[in-house]
Amino acid sequence: MTSDTAYVWVWLPGESEPVVAGRLRKDGNTHSFTYGISYLERETHFPLYLPELPLIRGVLRPDATWEAHGSILDAGPDYWGRRVILAQHFGRLTGESDTDDLGLLTYLLESGSDRIGALDFQASPDEYVPRTFEHHASLSELLAAADRLQAGELLTPVLADALLRGTSIGGARPKALIDDDGHTQIAKFSSTTDTYPVVKAEGIAMHLAAQAGLDVAPSRVVAAGERDVLLVDRFDRGDGGSRKMMVSALTMLALTPMNGHYASYADFADVIRARFTKPDHTLRELFSRIVFNVIVGNIDDHARNHAAFWDGSLLTLTPAYDICPQPRSVGEVNQAMAINRAGDRRSRLQVCELAADVYHLTPTEARTIIDELVSVVETGWDDAATLVGLDDLDRARLRGGAILNPSIFYRD
Ligand SMILES: Nc1ncnc2c1ncn2[C@@H]1O[C@H](COP(=O)(O)OP(=O)(O)O)[C@@H](O)[C@H]1O
Ligand SMILES: [Mg+2]
Repeated sequence: MTSDTAYVWVWLPGESEPVVAGRLRKDGNTHSFTYGISYLERETHFPLYLPELPLIRGVLRPDATWEAHGSILDAGPDYWGRRVILAQHFGRLTGESDTDDLGLLTYLLESGSDRIGALDFQASPDEYVPRTFEHHASLSELLAAADRLQAGELLTPVLADALLRGTSIGGARPKALIDDDGHTQIAKFSSTTDTYPVVKAEGIAMHLAAQAGLDVAPSRVVAAGERDVLLVDRFDRGDGGSRKMMVSALTMLALTPMNGHYASYADFADVIRARFTKPDHTLRELFSRIVFNVIVGNIDDHARNHAAFWDGSLLTLTPAYDICPQPRSVGEVNQAMAINRAGDRRSRLQVCELAADVYHLTPTEARTIIDELVSVVETGWDDAATLVGLDDLDRARLRGGAILNPSIFYRD
């Protein structure tokens, strides 16, 4: 199906059914958005995101180099979801498969409707038909299907549907959506090409983050046959079928995946000061998350791995997610986002400490947070590794490798 238009539907805060908000249309290399008159004239409505989508009549065009407005892209499939849809279109993935082979609207209109945040995309402005992809595949079957897809093999229609359901969740790693007692959870898989136990490492970091008192999505590592799966509770759903609008830090910083390497924590702190509920509390939480990422060696902490809920006027930081220690062959590494205003991104606790004022903290407060987080990881590491069943060899590699690497304690 090729189309040059998709309709954007939105769950207004607290509502169980979506309403149509406007039209997304291919516009050269980008996609422009126009609010529907019916939406503008509703008694209750909210801007999908500001400043990029103000509630006005007429065509809202993003920068011509953007694929679409950031808040729209945040709701769409990313690398993993796009690869699943590619495989569905062309039968299977090959060495030549490229996510540019299909257009954004195809990805938006063919991915599952149970997507991140409060938006969905439909071919019609009048009738809402969710793409639910019901399935009863077990975790092991989903995992095997993800392996087959990545290996360029064909999938049965049932398993293809099961994977399509999870295309509504962004990110690059293989994943699926599963049901647990009426609640959906994100299931994150290991990949056949992994060189270290990614799922266990993420499980350990998420567990320690919770122990350290960070606001983090609850998660657990479960076995599926011989493999591990990380199940993460979703935080973007409310009571009675309602959905919470969410945008990434990339969108808050008015950046795109193309120029996302300019994203910095210091700029994000400015957004928090200006536009967030509870700015001081949030700055402290953000500082703690940065320090924690340094301690556990999560250097994939890019601007799509931070997000906030959007209520139409203010932002509220979401719980933390995707805290995944990364293996390293060298000692000192860099965080994905700069920690201070000078652009320093070295993964050192001293860099965090000296940036305290950016996060509205005194040097003593920053030092206390750092010491407490180091202590929680040092003392909690063994139990956390046992909890996820990490063997001795991987313990030796992870502790002192990604987690608590000696280089994080270097000082100038
Ligand atoms: N617990 C959660 N609740 C709601 N949305 C989530 C949650 N965890 C992740 N997300 C969303 O799903 C996206 C992909 O998840 P993530 O864990 O980052 O996967 P990946 O490791 O592939 O990057 C995130 O960028 C975020 O938008
Ligand atoms: Mg991610």
